[in-house]
Amino acid sequence: MELLEGRTEDIGKEKHVPVIEKTDRGIRVKVGSIPHPMEGNHYIEWIEVIFNGRTFRKFLKLGDKPEVGFGIEEEKVEARVYCNVHGL
Ligand SMILES: [Fe+2]
Repeated sequence: MELLEGRTEDIGKEKHVPVIEKTDRGIRVKVGSIPHPMEGNHYIEWIEVIFNGRTFRKFLKLGDKPEVGFGIEEEKVEARVYCNVHGL
């Protein structure tokens, strides 16, 4: 098992830093200020949010939008994403 070290800044031309938006039903986490690719051999595998000691993760598949909605009212959450090329 390998411990993944998360980055907090973008590398390369793709944007990976999660953007959290409030919605009518909770929050939406988008990957990147410019949507990250979701095709071929480069895509976001999952998006998760952490709050109050709980983690909620949603897995994505090729062709999905690089964004996920969570039915969470909490606005102070930590969001993390995993890119199959660039990591956590
Ligand atoms: Fe990436």
